[in-house]
Parts: sequence; C-alpha cells; structure tokens
Amino acid sequence: MKVSEALRARISVRAYKPDPIPGALLREILDAARFAPSGGNLQPWRVIAVAGAAKDAVIALAKANLPGDVGKRFVYPPDLWEPYRSRRFKVGEEMYALLSIPREDKAGRLKQFMRNYEFFGAPVGLFFIIDKRMGYGQWAHLGMFMQSIALAALERGVANCMQECWATLRTPLAAHFGVGETEMIYCGMALGYADEAAPINTLRSARAGVDEIAEFRGF
Ligand SMILES: Cc1cc2nc3c(=O)[nH]c(=O)nc-3n(C[C@H](O)[C@H](O)[C@H](O)COP(=O)(O)O)c2cc1C
Repeated sequence: MKVSEALRARISVRAYKPDPIPGALLREILDAARFAPSGGNLQPWRVIAVAGAAKDAVIALAKANLPGDVGKRFVYPPDLWEPYRSRRFKVGEEMYALLSIPREDKAGRLKQFMRNYEFFGAPVGLFFIIDKRMGYGQWAHLGMFMQSIALAALERGVANCMQECWATLRTPLAAHFGVGETEMIYCGMALGYADEAAPINTLRSARAGVDEIAEFRGF
C-alpha cells in the first residue's frame, strides 16, 4: 500500500470483530512505529497494551469509576469556536445518523459513546503515557508515534480508533497501571479487526481543503 493511500484509508473504526491480535503482531506494529520522529530524538512516549483479562480489568475499572456526567466531559476547549465547532458538529451528526440515533435521543447517544469504554469490542487496548514535565512539543511528538502505529497497523490489516475519552479516567488508570509519579496517561487506542458489516464503520469524515489550511508564499 502506498503511503498516500494509507493516509486516506486510515479511519477511526468503532466496531470490531472479536478475533484476537497475536502478541507477535502487536510487537511488529510497535516495532515499525517506534521509528516515528521526535524532537531531539527524545521519543517521549510509553505504551501499555492490554488484551484478555488485562483488558477486561480496565473495562471493569471504567464501569466503576466513570463520573455520572461522563457524556458531558469533553477533551476540547470550552465554547469551541469556528471553524472547529462546525467540524466537530458535522462528524458527530454524521456518525449518529449512520446509527439512526437522533439528537433528541440523549440516552441512545450516551450508550453509543459508552462503547468507547469497551474499546468498541476490539481485542486490544493501548494506553499512551507521557511524562507530565514534557511540553507542547513533546505532546505533538507523541501524536506522531500514535499515527505511526495507526498506519503500521493498517498495513497489516489491523484497524484502530484513538480514544482520548480515556482521559476522564486518568487518575484511576494511573493507579491501576502503577505508572510513575511524573507520568500521565494521555490517550487510549482500540486495535483490532474491523467489523466491515457495521454501519458505523462506513463513516468517512470530511476534511478542509488544502486552500483552507495552507498558505503558499513565494511559489
Ligand atoms: C488523539 C485522538 C483522540 C481521539 N479520541 C476519540 C475518542 O475518544 N472516541 C472516538 O470515538 N474517537 C476519537 N477520535 C477519533 C476522531 O473523532 C477522528 O479521528 C475524527 O473524527 C476523524 O475521523 P477519522 O479518524 O475516521 O478520519 C480521536 C482521534 C484522535 C486523533
């Protein structure tokens, strides 16, 4: 697969087949992704992968610790402004339309959102850890590592969904995994084989065109 094709083919998959991902395959994916760039080659990332009983324990932790207002906690800045507000609204509406869950059906939407905390049925969950002392730069570098995992996985037929929703459970997760004093869990990721028949996986989110995001000077 060409890199440009992979960039277009990678999507967030939110329904998985139960088929397991062998440890050796996950290791291969991480082995490929670890060549992601980072400023000063700091490689400011660490990953904890869970499957089987370890994954079930995290799902149980989520059930026991999720706050009552989980559906109202967002990882975006408050009062999101344009064009970001409309972009976010659009992808959300498109996703729920595929599932035939209207805006008024708050309980239905929350139920779907809660599938996040079961990794959408994926056999593997990843948690990305960064040292709290790191700055904006290193956070961006961690993102490069995550995208590299997504692409290395895709090449091997393995789908993913990045999951910042796990940020709601940062404190109990840190205790559960026993991460270092100075570390924090940034984000999760579901990894597995896509359920191709699931309507939610037909979602193809739009992107702003090049002229909207780029300026060409001196060409
Ligand atoms: C860092 C990061 C965190 C994300 N967290 C979640 C999440 O918690 N739950 C979810 O369903 N999607 C999550 N997403 C997926 C985005 O909604 C998705 O990437 C975006 O809508 C574009 O769609 P695409 O990935 O299918 O191209 C996350 C994406 C990124 C990059």
